[in-house]
Amino acid sequence: MPPPPPPLPSFSLILLLFLLSSTTISQSQDTDPESDCTDKWIHIRHLPPQFNVDLLKNCSEYPLFDNFCPYLSNHGLGQKTHNSSHSWYRTDPFMLELIFHRRMLEYPCLTSDPNQANAIYLPYYGGIDSLKYLYGPEVNSSILHGLDLYQYLVHQDSPNIWNKNFGHDHFLVMARPAWDLIQPLSADPPIFGTSFLELPEFYNVTVLTFEARAYPWQERAIPYPTSFHPPNLAFFESWVNRLRRTRRPSLMLFAGGGGISANPNVRRSIRLECENSTSMSVNGTRYTKLCDFVDCSNGVCEHDPLRVMKPMLQATFCLQPPGDTPTRRSTFDGILAGCIPVFFEDLSSKKQYQWHLPEEKYEEFSVFIPKEEVVFKGLRVLDVLMSIPRAEVRRMREKVLEMMPRVMYRKHESSLGLRSKKDAFDIAIEGTLQRIKSRLEEIA
Ligand SMILES: *[C@@H]1O[C@H](CO)[C@@H](O)[C@H](O)[C@H]1NC(C)=O
Ligand SMILES: *[C@@H]1O[C@H](CO)[C@@H](O)[C@H](O)[C@H]1NC(C)=O
Ligand SMILES: *[C@@H]1O[C@H](CO)[C@@H](O)[C@H](O)[C@H]1NC(C)=O
Ligand SMILES: *[C@@H]1O[C@H](CO)[C@@H](O)[C@H](O)[C@H]1NC(C)=O
Ligand SMILES: *[C@@H]1O[C@H](CO)[C@@H](O)[C@H](O)[C@H]1NC(C)=O
Ligand SMILES: *[C@@H]1O[C@H](CO)[C@@H](O)[C@H](O)[C@H]1NC(C)=O
Repeated sequence: MPPPPPPLPSFSLILLLFLLSSTTISQSQDTDPESDCTDKWIHIRHLPPQFNVDLLKNCSEYPLFDNFCPYLSNHGLGQKTHNSSHSWYRTDPFMLELIFHRRMLEYPCLTSDPNQANAIYLPYYGGIDSLKYLYGPEVNSSILHGLDLYQYLVHQDSPNIWNKNFGHDHFLVMARPAWDLIQPLSADPPIFGTSFLELPEFYNVTVLTFEARAYPWQERAIPYPTSFHPPNLAFFESWVNRLRRTRRPSLMLFAGGGGISANPNVRRSIRLECENSTSMSVNGTRYTKLCDFVDCSNGVCEHDPLRVMKPMLQATFCLQPPGDTPTRRSTFDGILAGCIPVFFEDLSSKKQYQWHLPEEKYEEFSVFIPKEEVVFKGLRVLDVLMSIPRAEVRRMREKVLEMMPRVMYRKHESSLGLRSKKDAFDIAIEGTLQRIKSRLEEIA
């Protein structure tokens, strides 16, 4: 276990660091050797602090939510897991809005002229803003989420920036599953969630979320951040080499909670199969353990990457069954650990992260076992996985390692060498620019 995290720097210190680093960055922008910015210009629209940094001041004031003050440090990466760590942080996925904002500030094709921009980024911490509706005093007014932002963009600030393309060129990040943001406007009082994505005011804006609705709408899914944020190529490569060398004595791993109720569901089936597997012989298999189970109930794994990364490093396959919602951060932790993902429905990943993990690659780097077969037809996950030939397993793991940089958020200000690998941020930006371009062509 790492030593307890050092005390949190004060909020104003974090803010100061934020401002300082944004100024140093804008001076060092042009160091990227080959940045052809044609069709890639982005303007960061100025927003008053009430839409971003002011929201962080209330980080300890949501009693039904965690106190998230400890996770704000390092521009949202959180604290390092231990002092000597270079790449590992106690990252809370909900802080992606800060992480993304920080990365935008060092994006090589920024323009201060909105008219020259191909896309306009709104540095709005919308997921954090949603907390007061989800867990705070505004719980009964969640249909209002976003209206003050709209008011500012269209009426208070210069309306020309919005009106040029009616918002079709604007984008923002909301570090939540879309599910939390699609409460019908007519639901009164709301059950759970805000109506941000249901507001016609924002239909034209591209919103990057952790999970998108099953039918295509204005949001696009991007990966949950993991705890691994290497600062340069050497740290990245030494991790990849370790993944390649590591022995993987367990066949499969499930890290998560749930599945304890008596109702049939895939998590329950996995739990039962896993409990049962201790009585099965590993004789004749190449594993010393068939199933490893890491109990992450009550969020105990969330800010403790070692707890899940260690067993994931030792597992060949990582099971990613749906829980409350189809997607999981664990999918990305597993890929980062070189563990081959096993999906039980397409909505968990294939139909979500199409920019980052192209649909046609799934057969090469993952296993699909329909959850209905497991829950209702007695198909055993162990049997499916054990029947995959060793050479095939090796090929899949190589492919996982090849996909890995695409779902990782490298550290801000990372070295040029590492910047040459496209990471989750770079791919999200590419996808967004592409989407906005085709939107603008459609309305033209
Ligand atoms: C922050 O907390 C203060 C005091 O509890 C409250 O008045 C204010 O509305 C909160 N702001 C937000 C954005 O939730
Ligand atoms: C970690 O760093 C902090 C601040 O620099 C220091 O106070 C603390 O003693 C260090 N802990 C260890 C175990 O070195
Ligand atoms: C929200 O509405 C419910 C039902 O109308 C009420 O019981 C509750 O006190 C309200 N909550 C707040 C924070 O106003
Ligand atoms: C969204 O775009 C359409 C045109 O494509 C426009 O008619 C509409 O007013 C826009 N919505 C807002 C809120 O600007
Ligand atoms: C438990 O293991 C036994 C013996 O291998 C097997 O017959 C049984 O079907 C297993 N039960 C479950 C729920 O997998
Ligand atoms: C595994 O194989 C060894 C030697 O072949 C045998 O002695 C042992 O009983 C077997 N274990 C099980 C659980 O079948």
